[in-house]
Amino acid sequence: MNLWRSTTMHPGWPKPVGPLRVPAGLVRLRPVRLRDGAAWSRIRLTDQAHLEPWEPVADVNWQVRHAISSWPTICSGLRSEARKGRMLPYAIELDGEFCGQLTIGNVTHGALRSAWIGYWVAKEHNGGGVATGAVALGLDHGFGPVGLHRIEATVRPENAPSRAVLAKARFREEGLLRRYLEVDGAWRDHLLVAITIEELTGSATSALVRDGRATWA
Ligand code: ACO
Repeated sequence: MNLWRSTTMHPGWPKPVGPLRVPAGLVRLRPVRLRDGAAWSRIRLTDQAHLEPWEPVADVNWQVRHAISSWPTICSGLRSEARKGRMLPYAIELDGEFCGQLTIGNVTHGALRSAWIGYWVAKEHNGGGVATGAVALGLDHGFGPVGLHRIEATVRPENAPSRAVLAKARFREEGLLRRYLEVDGAWRDHLLVAITIEELTGSATSALVRDGRATWA
């Protein structure tokens, strides 16, 4: 009964995705889990300056929010949303180690079949294609087992590395959302980018392989 419910209410979850080989190593997506707390907290605290300019504000300060003791509540909240069919909260693994997160959220089915995608990767692993590989895996999973038709993302115009990731994954710009999200102390404009299944020839991962940015694992 539980299996029936999980496959029909939320196709594609909790299935791991990948791997795919990028210049930095082997990238894979798998559901977040309670024992990610130590790595998550260490990276999020070390990388505050790298992450905070791009993330929505929260009521509690960065240190408290990213203490190891905060993770069980965050992780359970994410997994609860996943069980309800609304989200796919993945850890990004590089060579088997937690190095970031990729989330597919606001999943809707029916005639819309849409979701947003968001991600972050530890600074020490930046520039090796990890986010690009993870996004391609997320797109193929979203358009495949999850059954989505459209995936969108919002990104600050100033976020050049993230815009590069989205461009490599073939997202298309749809417009500028004025004062869209409260980030880093102010209401920030965001670009809305999107891709629909018709825009991919083959798959997102095969496009990366064709572009010479990844190889099959
Ligand atoms: N200007 C232009 N391009 C840049 C710059 C820059 N200043 N810095 C890096 N880049 C390019 C790199 O050259 C690379 O492109 P290339 O492969 O063509 O050379 C690209 O940005 C980065 O690609 P990846 O290596 O796949 O990405 P990475 O694993 O380094 O992760 C990420 C990128 C996720 C943006 C990481 O820096 C990060 O976590 N940043 C902080 C959090 C964040 O911004 N998250 C995204 C929010 S928006 C969203 O979620 C939709």
